[in-house]
Amino acid sequence: MKGHVPTPDDLADHIVEKLFRENPPAAGETILYPGCGKGPFIAAVERYCNTNGHPIPEGVAIELDPEHLTAARERHADLPVEFQERDFLGDVADLGEFEYIVGNPRMFPSKGSMKTRNSGTSSSSIPLSGDSTSTSSSSNSP
Ligand SMILES: C[S@@+](CC[C@H](N)C(=O)[O-])C[C@H]1O[C@@H](n2cnc3c(N)ncnc32)[C@H](O)[C@@H]1O
Repeated sequence: MKGHVPTPDDLADHIVEKLFRENPPAAGETILYPGCGKGPFIAAVERYCNTNGHPIPEGVAIELDPEHLTAARERHADLPVEFQERDFLGDVADLGEFEYIVGNPRMFPSKGSMKTRNSGTSSSSIPLSGDSTSTSSSSNSP
């Protein structure tokens, strides 16, 4: 699919380390992987949590491309991640809110936003614009 630029494992590790360093995952917390592709960030979260002794957050991974989604689901079948084939720019209100969001979205129009659970913090709302890799957590600035 157009817009698929996989993130190398070492870069995904670096981003996840930044995401969790000052705000490590606790039991019951959740993470959203928008445009998860084949799941490099899911793998990086698993590595980080296993290495540092943290629980793996319960995840929802969203992907439009069914082949990528199948690859991600098969690769991470043992993890607490729900995989959904859907458009993360559509109505995703049913998903609720997440402590963490991490991904490498493609370039898309600058409209819409995703919010983390603690919407009062400065890093809690992620504008869906641009094509850069982004991370957010509920209580620290990455
Ligand atoms: C730049 S790739 C990154 C994939 C993966 N996160 C990574 O870092 O390797 C962007 C991914 O988002 C998916 N995607 C693009 N727009 C999407 C949308 N609106 N809803 C769900 N997935 C989308 C693409 O199919 C692609 O797999």
